[in-house]
Amino acid sequence: MSQDLVQQIQKLKKEKNAVILAHYYEDGDIQDVADHVGDSFYLAKMGQKSNADVILLAGVVFMAESVKILNPTKKVLVPDLGAGCSLVSGSPFEAYKKWRDQNPDAICVTYINSSAEVKAISDVIVTSSNAAEILEAIPKDRKILFGPDQHLGKFLAKKHNRPMEFWNGSCQVHVLFNAKRLYELIQKHPDAVIIAHPECEDDILQYASVVGSTSRLLEEVEKNPSKKFIVATEQGIFHQMKKQRPDVELIQAPIADGTCNCNNCPFMKMNSMQKIKNALETLTPQIELNENLRALAQVSLDRMMNITSGKKVSWPDHFEFKGF
Ligand code: 13P
Ligand code: SF4
Repeated sequence: MSQDLVQQIQKLKKEKNAVILAHYYEDGDIQDVADHVGDSFYLAKMGQKSNADVILLAGVVFMAESVKILNPTKKVLVPDLGAGCSLVSGSPFEAYKKWRDQNPDAICVTYINSSAEVKAISDVIVTSSNAAEILEAIPKDRKILFGPDQHLGKFLAKKHNRPMEFWNGSCQVHVLFNAKRLYELIQKHPDAVIIAHPECEDDILQYASVVGSTSRLLEEVEKNPSKKFIVATEQGIFHQMKKQRPDVELIQAPIADGTCNCNNCPFMKMNSMQKIKNALETLTPQIELNENLRALAQVSLDRMMNITSGKKVSWPDHFEFKGF
């Protein structure tokens, strides 16, 4: 990485009063130039409380949208507007709304990996680091619709003994891990601790002693005295894991086709240092949201923020949507 580019980004950050928030799946050079690095919940919180004029979200578009929804007066930049997510594209607004319409009395719990439109017709947003706390806050007699990630939903339903109806979405990266090959790998490394992100399928999660968000997995590597970990999530997080624990061996959980590089999220990897520099220079691409849509989407995100900061929340009795 050219030092030049790093210096230019640092200079632009000062000139524009900008802050860079990066997800753990970004390349190491991007994580190193960021002011804050974290999981999707942490990035939303940092974006919400930022006083900077410009917030550049080095991650995928739904993460930048969440920041804009929570902090609408700021300019929110994303290095590449094409940085989508298979969970977002797998939950189109009209189909999601139809699901809601068919279940008007249910509470709709939506993963943060969703579009602003889908957030706007949801009751509460969750991330993998706060979903358990949010489920606890939902009255036991209410039916739950959980989307769009069926694997996170199934993991939570089983762990917390809470029946739910699932949307049929999944992460195209985390479903690639192969249970048979993982089993074989564990036989070769019986001393390894297995850690996995809950977007993985159940046949992978059954082997993991820790299932959690990216920040939870990082915490495990930091604190667990073991010298070997098999990691079932996107490889970008190895950067922080290696920084915190240079003494450990990190082994990527295997996928069926051992030759492809498909455990790198192609959307996260659309960002680059050059694109970050360009975005800060030109203040584009920016996240722009229709104000009615933004305000409606804020309701479900605010419920998440309120529950996680210990506040009492109320729940709507019925689904009602009057348009954006
Ligand atoms: P985290 O919230 O655990 O960082 O997960 C975000 C994500 O997109 C995982 O694929
Ligand atoms: Fe979406 Fe999966 Fe990429 Fe996360 S890793 S941003 S869930 S496609």
